[in-house]
Amino acid sequence: MKSGKIKIGLIFGGRSAEHEISILSASSVYKNINKEKFEVISIYINKNGYWRVVDSPLIGLENLNKGEFYSFLPWADSKIIEHFEADVYFPLLHGPYGEDGTIQGLLEMANVPYVGAGVLASSLGMDKAKMKFIFRAKGLPVVNFIIIHDWQWKKDRDFFLKKIKEEFKYPIFTKPSNLGSSIGITKVKEETQLIPSIEQAFKYDRKILVEQGVIAREIECSVLGNEEPQASLPGELIPYREFYDYRDKYVEGKTEFKIPAPLEEDQIKEIRRLAIEAFKAIECEGMARVDFFLEKETDKIFINEINTIPGFTEISMYPKMWEASGISYPKLIEILIELALERYKNKK
Ligand SMILES: Nc1ncnc2c1ncn2[C@@H]1O[C@H](COP(=O)(O)OP(=O)(O)O)[C@@H](O)[C@H]1O
Ligand SMILES: [Mg+2]
Repeated sequence: MKSGKIKIGLIFGGRSAEHEISILSASSVYKNINKEKFEVISIYINKNGYWRVVDSPLIGLENLNKGEFYSFLPWADSKIIEHFEADVYFPLLHGPYGEDGTIQGLLEMANVPYVGAGVLASSLGMDKAKMKFIFRAKGLPVVNFIIIHDWQWKKDRDFFLKKIKEEFKYPIFTKPSNLGSSIGITKVKEETQLIPSIEQAFKYDRKILVEQGVIAREIECSVLGNEEPQASLPGELIPYREFYDYRDKYVEGKTEFKIPAPLEEDQIKEIRRLAIEAFKAIECEGMARVDFFLEKETDKIFINEINTIPGFTEISMYPKMWEASGISYPKLIEILIELALERYKNKK
């Protein structure tokens, strides 16, 4: 803190399929952070998991990848000539190897303050199977689901097919447990598609979920805080395609967003309550976006998932829902940094 400013170590890029989204999230933070108070050091992780310090996230993918990269292992062969000491680290990595507790573990080992969820909450937030178990154990509403491991599928395929037939109605959703961006997810409309869809999900993970599909509105809610988290006004997304799939999310971008979501007062209240409960259930800290299904026919609310490092560009749902609730994007960044420092202090 020599300059009197707090030094923020922005960590972005990363090994997941959401590498490019991460660069966009970091670029937005870089552009909007209060430069009077904070100084930014940009730490880029390439797709192989090696890092280097760059001028900023804004220099473009090609320039980001020019130059020498280093291993995270201090005993690896590379001689580190770059340093990235910061007062607070801000991981903006989406998906596996970033949002899942791995980088958080590294930061814990190093005993430094960092923004967002800790190791446990990050891992739980990434593992849809364990996340849903916990929600269900806490009495929070989730759609019916079963978990299948690849070895179980190989051994007891008929058992699972029978169970699915008994417990679910089409459409069914099949999804890898540890992934994001809708990759490997299928909306299964009839029995003939079931086995190929399950096998498709197994291409991405050794553990998958089979879920009851619901015909529902998709509502999201932002949560912010440590011990006493607050929830934003909910937002709604209206997928352009059959469901909110990878193409809809990142290629076509035709999904419509409504912030705040047009909902009844009591629905808003309930969604905010459930968002906070979901946040607490996984022992989350800092931030998270909680995603819901609001079943059209019954008005029933189900928690779909929690994202501990949600999309964080200025136009992403997480900051936009806060903006609609009275917290500007630069202010949000500041609060997250304060929360990181507060957690670090309390832990000590
Ligand atoms: N049980 C379900 N019923 C209806 N739609 C679903 C269901 N599960 C997933 N979807 C659709 O698939 C999208 C992606 O699924 P999700 O579980 O949120 O995975 P990801 O982590 O990849 O975002 C959702 O936004 C929704 O459009
Ligand atoms: Mg989702």
